[in-house]
Amino acid sequence: MRHNLITALDIGSANIRCIIASAKSPGHLDLLGIAETPSAGIEKGIVKDIQAVAECVKKALQEVQATSGLKPANIFANVTGDHIRTQVGDGRISIPASSPNEPGEIAQEHVDQVIADARNGVKIQKGFERCQILHGIPQGYVIDGHNDIRNPLRMTGFHLITKVLTIFGDVTQLRNLAKSIELAGYEIGADNFVLNHIAIANAVLSEDERRLGTILIDIGGGTCDISLHHRGILEKILVIPMAGSAITEDLAIGLKTTLSNAEYIKTHYGVALAASVDPETEIVVEGISGRDSQVKTQYLVSHVVQHRVEEMLSLCYDRLKNFYTPELVTAGIVLTGGTAKLQMIDAVVKNSFNLPVKIAQPDLSTFNGDTDLLKDPAFATCVGLLRHAAAQEPETKAPALRLGSFKAGKTLDKIKNIIKDFTSS
Ligand SMILES: Nc1ncnc2c1ncn2[C@@H]1O[C@H](COP(=O)(O)OP(=O)(O)OP(=O)(O)O)[C@@H](O)[C@H]1O
Ligand SMILES: [Mg+2]
Repeated sequence: MRHNLITALDIGSANIRCIIASAKSPGHLDLLGIAETPSAGIEKGIVKDIQAVAECVKKALQEVQATSGLKPANIFANVTGDHIRTQVGDGRISIPASSPNEPGEIAQEHVDQVIADARNGVKIQKGFERCQILHGIPQGYVIDGHNDIRNPLRMTGFHLITKVLTIFGDVTQLRNLAKSIELAGYEIGADNFVLNHIAIANAVLSEDERRLGTILIDIGGGTCDISLHHRGILEKILVIPMAGSAITEDLAIGLKTTLSNAEYIKTHYGVALAASVDPETEIVVEGISGRDSQVKTQYLVSHVVQHRVEEMLSLCYDRLKNFYTPELVTAGIVLTGGTAKLQMIDAVVKNSFNLPVKIAQPDLSTFNGDTDLLKDPAFATCVGLLRHAAAQEPETKAPALRLGSFKAGKTLDKIKNIIKDFTSS
């Protein structure tokens, strides 16, 4: 039973969330424990104080251990931050056949070979030397000039071509995250870091959304994690280092109050569309360290909120606009993360992108147990990590990471298995 345990650990800039579950049968997860604690020492996905992160991770893991009665094992954790880089590489092979003018049948070994060829073509350019490969995402296959083939297995052809989107993370950041888990008294496998964007997509996107085209934006405390899905393929990822905590900081400055008061006011009275607020509604704002309280309008609060939300969305739009046209994202925008709970944020996102917007909760259809707490856009990462982990074959799991064992070049080797996962899904 114990070897079926999966622990999902979402190390966020604002919160640490953890779920422990058992994957008894394929596709079914028994929920055993949930924990949520405030985070410290990590900003915009970057570890700034490893002791503080380790303390928070320890608290979350001990809490989930207390609720489940099980020691967290087989930990999968998310990774984000503006250290994430991507690169696209091509692979090309000939398919062997019984005679030169006959096409051959494509087997798994040929898919592996073409991916390996793409992998070898991935040049670790200047600036990539200290990066570790997190994921390799095939962007579809071409057989003898026929494009957009999703799964070439058992098809026939003379030549097989593929493009792979390779996602890298800075090795220092990954080591610091692993070390914070070790300092907390737990361990994580070298291959058990999952890009936040990929975890989120596993939790909330339907097959239709992936195929028809969707922009998925996870708006947390420190970063907006954006991914573009089209034709069933993850085509682009971006990290914008601005999110909910910037709104809170603006309010603390604008209202001359503490960050914790500003956080309370934002989550209780902040509305992303100021025009929708009654201009007469007043709020008492506590002063800093015993200074006099002041009365402010909810309109003023919401005006500050809207200003920052629009700035954040304009950064997202500017970075993304060259990679899609409206017809490529027929399903529109899907929002997750704690900031997706800000009142009327969907209306402002709709105005900024001119696309339909949905605020998503994780899909819990494959879970048994009391899932009420997980019906929250902020739990999407954790749920997605569980689903990602449950989809891994046990024999492909890496041994526990020993600190110092990361090697940028060596990790290229894991692409093959990851790609197998994507092509067989
Ligand atoms: N009801 C609410 N209204 C507005 N903002 C909210 C609400 N609930 C939570 N938030 C904001 O959501 C943010 C935290 O979201 P989340 O827990 O998803 O972040 P995180 O995962 O820790 O951070 P990141 O993903 O950026 O590393 C905080 O800025 C918090 O103020
Ligand atoms: Mg998050």
